Amino acid sequence: MRGVFILLLALGLSASESFITKEEYAAGLYHNPRGVGCHLCHGEEGEGKLIARYIDKGESKVFAGNAIKKLPFREFYEKVNSRIVGMPRYYLTDTEIQTLYYYLHREEFKNAAAKSSKPH
Ligand code: HEC
Repeated sequence: MRGVFILLLALGLSASESFITKEEYAAGLYHNPRGVGCHLCHGEEGEGKLIARYIDKGESKVFAGNAIKKLPFREFYEKVNSRIVGMPRYYLTDTEIQTLYYYLHREEFKNAAAKSSKPH
């Protein structure tokens, strides 16, 4: 019995110590940011998403998450944690916001890194 417990403990430890890449972490946070995933309203790549069409007082309306892929970092940073109608209020840390921004711009970041590491 004790052996099994120790084995489980060892497995648990090795799982929590296993490395995940920055991409995996960033994708995880975007889909599950301590709350409702951003992708549900803003689309897989932050391109925006139509959530619902409805009729309000005889007028047809849409509820949509807008595109957040092209916002400059400062604006993204300020808006993510602010009160926005239709969006859950998140209390994300600076690192988490940077990671989400990285997720939406990962191709650009990777291209820039590849360019700067090329020998001249
Ligand atoms: C339940 C739906 C929903 C979820 C989930 C959600 N948002 Fe939003 N978000 C909205 C709506 C609605 C707006 C406002 C759209 C508008 O003004 O037209 C918004 C606005 C924003 C804006 C401001 C965009 C701008 O151009 O002003 C940012 C940035 C943003 N969301 C980021 C996020 C991030 C990052 C997440 C995940 C941590 C997230 N949102 C999760 C619905 C959502």
